[in-house]
Amino acid sequence: DGKYTVTLIEGDGIGPEIAQSVKDIYSAANVPIKWESVDVTPTLKDGKTVIPDEAIDSVRRNYVALKGPLATPVGKGHVSLNLTLRRTFNLFANVRPCKSIQGYKTPYDNVDTVLIRENTEGEYSGIEHVVVDGVVQSIKLITREASERVLRFAFQYAQSVGKPKVRVVHKATIMKMSDGLFLNLGREIAKDYPDVEFDAELLDNACLKVVTDPTPYNDKVLVMPNLYGDILSDMCAGLIGGLGLTPSGNIGDECSIFEAVHGSAPDIAGKGLANPTALLLSSIMMLQHMGLHEHANKIQAAIFKTLAEGKTITGDLGGKSKTHEYAGAVIKNL
Ligand code: IPM
Ligand code: MN
Repeated sequence: DGKYTVTLIEGDGIGPEIAQSVKDIYSAANVPIKWESVDVTPTLKDGKTVIPDEAIDSVRRNYVALKGPLATPVGKGHVSLNLTLRRTFNLFANVRPCKSIQGYKTPYDNVDTVLIRENTEGEYSGIEHVVVDGVVQSIKLITREASERVLRFAFQYAQSVGKPKVRVVHKATIMKMSDGLFLNLGREIAKDYPDVEFDAELLDNACLKVVTDPTPYNDKVLVMPNLYGDILSDMCAGLIGGLGLTPSGNIGDECSIFEAVHGSAPDIAGKGLANPTALLLSSIMMLQHMGLHEHANKIQAAIFKTLAEGKTITGDLGGKSKTHEYAGAVIKNL
């Protein structure tokens, strides 16, 4: 029927409500997408968190998925479902853009940062043990293979979006071996991309500088090991108004999952108060990734117009509107 099938992981808490906004806006905009909703409720198999085969098959078959927030199951043995998804599909690069939203006032005006986070290893490798009582070891695993893959991705991403510079953010002064490997690989790989400038910055300095004045970061793609990317991306999100407004994409060779980074907000779940913007903007990244640029631009413009008008916005942004009213305003602005 000429439609693309996309896996939809609605997620927990506010997930289904914000996913509904995406579905409503997409049908109003005639996006040629059929949603395939899957359940990712995990089970424990031999002490490991496993996702239902149907969900895995769906993502593999469709190549792209859109994902709402997933609560991490409490209980011994479970690792975060979010991480399990990234690992299961080897989604090696996590792309996190932060762009100022017209009409939403923050202390900063023209933020336009892009951060690319290594997404499979580092401090997230999950290798931890007790050495003796009171002494634990958590291993930060850095491999040439995963580092090279994400670094090359960063250079190619910079080329594709027209940013002239790639900057490695690191702490190689302390993590001499792990971050040293990452940084040196960056220097080496930079030679293969002579049209992209390369430099490096210490993580703590980057934090200080980006909250002092983010504009010098607008012409750069920042690339870094996993945990640094987790932290610095929240910091960048804070510059434009928080995780309710920032998209992300987990990119792999076989498939990609686009997700809102915010949590499932159980306190407001089911009340129709949630802001669907982060999931919507993640879906725009997904449309761009699929080459559906016209639909992406049209929906994105309608979102930004609605936010700039500031009349029909949700409580987190200082408005009084319900989730479906905001979605309705976006549809009117299509
Ligand atoms: C993120 C989140 C996740 C992470 C959590 C939910 C496991 O904070 O996507 O940034 O730490 O990567
Ligand atoms: Mn995070």
